[in-house]
Amino acid sequence: MQQTFAIIKPDAFAAGNAGKIMARIYAEGFKVVGIKKLYMSKVEAEGFYYVHRERPFFGELTDFMSSAPCIVMVLEAEGAIKKWRDLMGATNPSEAEQGTLRKEFGSSIGENATHGSDAPETAAFEIPYFFSGLELL
Ligand code: RTP
Ligand code: MG
Repeated sequence: MQQTFAIIKPDAFAAGNAGKIMARIYAEGFKVVGIKKLYMSKVEAEGFYYVHRERPFFGELTDFMSSAPCIVMVLEAEGAIKKWRDLMGATNPSEAEQGTLRKEFGSSIGENATHGSDAPETAAFEIPYFFSGLELL
């Protein structure tokens, strides 16, 4: 079994789409090991997206992620990292396949509804960034 880190981003949470996204998560067979609502600060968003600090969209991305509450989760499944990335679809909702979460709930490359770890090392950083061991029992 593998774990991945996922976010229902501020756009999707504010639009009331968290329930529909959670329904898809359960329907696809993920176990929700950890879940909480969080209103990220700018500094917390900058730390989370540290790998993108040199990218031109870093300011916009961290402003957005700290603009309103989101839901952070740890999801478990066989091949959870790829399975969740596949369910999310392409970063840009306009390029995402039909049936993916970003296609259905994303509105732009910046406001694309969900986040997911892109590799085991990324998940190993992202999960403990937001969750303590006790929250994942
Ligand atoms: P995420 O990390 O949020 O799951 O998204 P991702 O792996 O599909 O994409 P990544 O390259 O890691 O980019 C992180 C987030 O930055 C925003 N972005 N904006 N304006 C732009 O050109 C641009 N490019 C990326 C997106 O919101 C993306 O999810
Ligand atoms: Mg990424």
